[in-house]
Amino acid sequence: MNERADITLEDLSEPLTFPVDAYTSREYAEAEADKLWAKVWQHAGRVEEIPAVGDYITYEICHDSILIVRTAPNSIKAYHNVCPHRGRRLVRVPEGANGARGNAGKQLFFCGYHGWSFNLEGENAELMNREDWQGTLTDEHTCLSEVSVDTWGGWIFVNMDPDCIPLREYLEPAASLLDPFEFEKMRYRFRQWVVFDCNWKVALEAFMEPYHVAATHPQLTKYGDFYAWSKAQGLHGNDGYDTPDHGEEDAAATTTVHRTGKGADARAMMAEMQKEFWETVGASTTQVLVDAAARLVDELPEGTPAPEVHHHWLESCKADYAALGVEWPQISEGQMAEAGLAWHVFPNMSILQGPVFALYYRTRPHGTDPDKCIYEAVAIERYPEGEEPATEWLYAEPTEENWRMVIAQDFSNMELVQQGLKSRGFRGNLPNPYQERKVTNLHRNLAKYMGAGEPRPLE
Ligand code: FES
Ligand SMILES: [Fe+2]
Repeated sequence: MNERADITLEDLSEPLTFPVDAYTSREYAEAEADKLWAKVWQHAGRVEEIPAVGDYITYEICHDSILIVRTAPNSIKAYHNVCPHRGRRLVRVPEGANGARGNAGKQLFFCGYHGWSFNLEGENAELMNREDWQGTLTDEHTCLSEVSVDTWGGWIFVNMDPDCIPLREYLEPAASLLDPFEFEKMRYRFRQWVVFDCNWKVALEAFMEPYHVAATHPQLTKYGDFYAWSKAQGLHGNDGYDTPDHGEEDAAATTTVHRTGKGADARAMMAEMQKEFWETVGASTTQVLVDAAARLVDELPEGTPAPEVHHHWLESCKADYAALGVEWPQISEGQMAEAGLAWHVFPNMSILQGPVFALYYRTRPHGTDPDKCIYEAVAIERYPEGEEPATEWLYAEPTEENWRMVIAQDFSNMELVQQGLKSRGFRGNLPNPYQERKVTNLHRNLAKYMGAGEPRPLE
């Protein structure tokens, strides 16, 4: 590697390119199963999905299935979802479902082939004719294989690598910069999934930069130009609103809730923008925030400057939430600005965060097919205690009716990108060196795991 490449790869500020194999090669996709997915911490569900002892979910990644179980009120364990006898998958994932879920109950985990069963701690509880093994069958032979599991922000993460670093260390600096949002106090509002004919990275990258907004979501440009900074944060990355001259706009305007729009009347613009996001994204804000914005024209005089409108709105939101018994997190404007608009959590999660809500995406390979992925979009929100809606995974065909206008617009690019990446005429990605560094950073970090595909300076 030449000297220039070293400098470039520090902060990704120079124009870089990277090859298409990561998206299109079958060999690469097979290798990913071993070199990436078997080595990284990955989000496998939320704690709220397994509230009672014995509750379990499964998480499928490439050809692996992982069983995640609440073993005690304060303990979660994870196992490879395979019977140690002759390898039957222990818990069956129902056809067409996004993983299995249930409660092990008194039956424990029972293998339907020869009846071996396992307790919540993964130990063998029942095994017919043990004496036939002539005393050689130890507990190590007959227990389930454990997988590392930990939680952050209410998410359950698993890692199949026995030598993995602790989750917290893996997630930094994202974890510390996002902790003030208190995602662990949010609960599912909706969770939808669908299978796309594109690589998991193509689907994820459709949500990693606002550089695409002008062309893909032209209806939103009336609220601003969506110019954004984009940063490598170790394995992870974040972005936030900016101006083309980098910094004229108030630094606090980097987040979703700090956007005031560009119309003459900041009150009306804020109300319109919140309403439009609620209706066309179905997330990235909440009904309480939308309602508080709608009152701005009555509560503030005409000509109120945008920062004041914005401040008044946030204070109203806090008061409205307090009246509902929902605590607004202790988060400063500075903390919100530093966290920015959205995060990429390596390898396959994208989070758009707010003080009482988050919208996040997860994409995964479908088996090891480079041309297929499982895509999920989830909204979580803070609710008054006991008013959290009951949700299930909903398979939703990628129509505007099912996903609303904005996300459906993002979908419209994905399969076309996958097709285009295979074109003989495509010379390699040209990510924007300022606004799309998160994407380049994903490929830089992938290359470290895969041993191939390092971004290189654009000649
Ligand atoms: S494969 Fe599970 S009991 Fe035989
Ligand atoms: Fe988009």
